[in-house]
Amino acid sequence: MLIADMRCFRCFYTRAHSLLLLRSSTPVTIPISPVRFRLRRFSSSPVTSVFDLPSSNQDANSNKEDNETKIGFSDEKSRKAASNPRGWSPGEVVMNKSKKGKSKTVWVCESCGHSEGQWWGSCRTCHKVGTMKRFSQGSELSAGGGGGGSNCTGSGFSESKGLSWLPEQTTVQPHRLTDVIHGITQQQWRISLPGLFGNEVGRVLGGGLAPGSLILIGGDPGIGKSTLLLQIAAIIAEGSELAEPAPVLYISGEESVEQIGSRADRMRIQTEELYLFSSSDLQDILNKAHRLSPRALIIDSIQTVYLKDVTGSAGGLTQVKECTSTLLRFAKKSNIPVFLVGHVTKAGDIAGPRVLEHIVDVVLYLEGEESSTYRLLRSVKNRFGSTDELGVFEMANSGLEVVSNPSGIYLSQQNPDSDVLAGLAVAVVMDGSRSFLIEVQALCSPGSTVSRHVNGVQASRADMIIAVLMKQAGLRIQENGIFLNVANGMALSETAGDLAIAAAICSSFLEFPIPHGVVFIGEIGLGGEVRTVPRMEKRVSTVAKLGFNKCVVPKSVEESLKALNLKEIEIIGCKNLKELINAVFRVQ
Ligand code: TYD
Ligand code: MG
Repeated sequence: MLIADMRCFRCFYTRAHSLLLLRSSTPVTIPISPVRFRLRRFSSSPVTSVFDLPSSNQDANSNKEDNETKIGFSDEKSRKAASNPRGWSPGEVVMNKSKKGKSKTVWVCESCGHSEGQWWGSCRTCHKVGTMKRFSQGSELSAGGGGGGSNCTGSGFSESKGLSWLPEQTTVQPHRLTDVIHGITQQQWRISLPGLFGNEVGRVLGGGLAPGSLILIGGDPGIGKSTLLLQIAAIIAEGSELAEPAPVLYISGEESVEQIGSRADRMRIQTEELYLFSSSDLQDILNKAHRLSPRALIIDSIQTVYLKDVTGSAGGLTQVKECTSTLLRFAKKSNIPVFLVGHVTKAGDIAGPRVLEHIVDVVLYLEGEESSTYRLLRSVKNRFGSTDELGVFEMANSGLEVVSNPSGIYLSQQNPDSDVLAGLAVAVVMDGSRSFLIEVQALCSPGSTVSRHVNGVQASRADMIIAVLMKQAGLRIQENGIFLNVANGMALSETAGDLAIAAAICSSFLEFPIPHGVVFIGEIGLGGEVRTVPRMEKRVSTVAKLGFNKCVVPKSVEESLKALNLKEIEIIGCKNLKELINAVFRVQ
């Protein structure tokens, strides 16, 4: 029995290794140069090679070369330095060279990337069995789990490479803060994004685009990430009153240049400075970017690019992490902002952006319901600004358009008669760091044969709230059949929705509609008291931006929320359910 099990294990490792070999040998490079985008004219062959373009940089370089020949160089080193005006080469950012000498072994989980100094039977982070692989500094990928098994060749994973996203700045000295900020103003330092659309994106980014920043844009497939980035690329390339038009390089590993071109055509993008390039080889991409020196680089998506010297196929955890680290070094060295697209799958794909959130400077999520055309651009992490900002867009025929009155989004999805419909209340729930609005619907039907039916709300929670309403608020709802539903098939799993459930039931029972623009946040205790929930400030600032004008909250946080000075929204604090009924259902 034990032997049979051991065989199974051996089989498993052998298969895993052959898969690894197959995956690492797949990428094929197609030698294509970036294509300069021109409206209504696309060609699979380069329209103009970027290296022949009369861009200002190219001119500068050619002049420099002329001067070099005239002046002459004393040694080879100074010639090389002078011939490379940027002072660094793409090779420097692609991979750190491993130091010669003592080799160090590290065990890395193939599934989640967790590393250990010694072998364990299973990964201590993701608990998967047999996923720990041995890597040694400067050596080939060696045997799998169990400390034995067959050898497998592949690229080495050095410890320095594992930490390669740390910028190598051994020669850089510490600077005094006052020297660094002297003469820098935020407006001058940041790349401004002009226009209504640019302002909306710039606000979410913290007031424009920070040079040298690495920005990850996540979102479900088909939500509009490529569309958003193409529009961002176009406005950066077009420039503004403050900045001349400048090249922007848009790399797609998913679509051909013709496909991107036809989309841009549909979106009526007419810029001469937008360069399209379809490639997956990151080294090649960085070579092109280095030569073109664009104002911004866009990679769509991080799951499609790969580095030849890194183990695994494109989209695998190691590749994704290492490519992102390389792009971070590229961004920091060149001061070129880099946008990355990252897919989020419902199954929580390991190559999703969550893994990368630690590496990048800014994480934005593009969100929206499948059935709705509205899209929210939310900042989840921002090293250069607040994460409370929210951009609201609508997917139209010609790309994403800014929604100037966001309150319209939510209200338009409601029944137009909802002003006179009793039993509807809005709650704010959090999903991770994202906040959502949920509409709770209640129907109190006297003499119904069904006593209670809930949909999208936890039955036990609904029972508790109904019991508290009867006992503590004196609501005589026992003779009613009570139906609860959450609109759009969403589920309300947080206690923050208690107050909205109670308000919806009261509204239906009293046949008193809750006016538009009122939102409820709070938990209800058995004594009928209204309690606070985590991240109240974030929830309230989200609803304020979405155009709601009254927010019913627990009394204990009323003052601190009023101190936020959110002018658009009135904060109404309630100690208990009786106060809630008086505050909302009082005849004016
Ligand atoms: P896309 O940007 O390709 O999504 P992602 O990159 O996140 O996968 O957008 C795909 C959807 O957007 C697609 O369903 C069509 C729609 N769309 C429009 O409705 N209008 C437009 O102008 C564009 C470009 C796309
Ligand atoms: Mg896309």
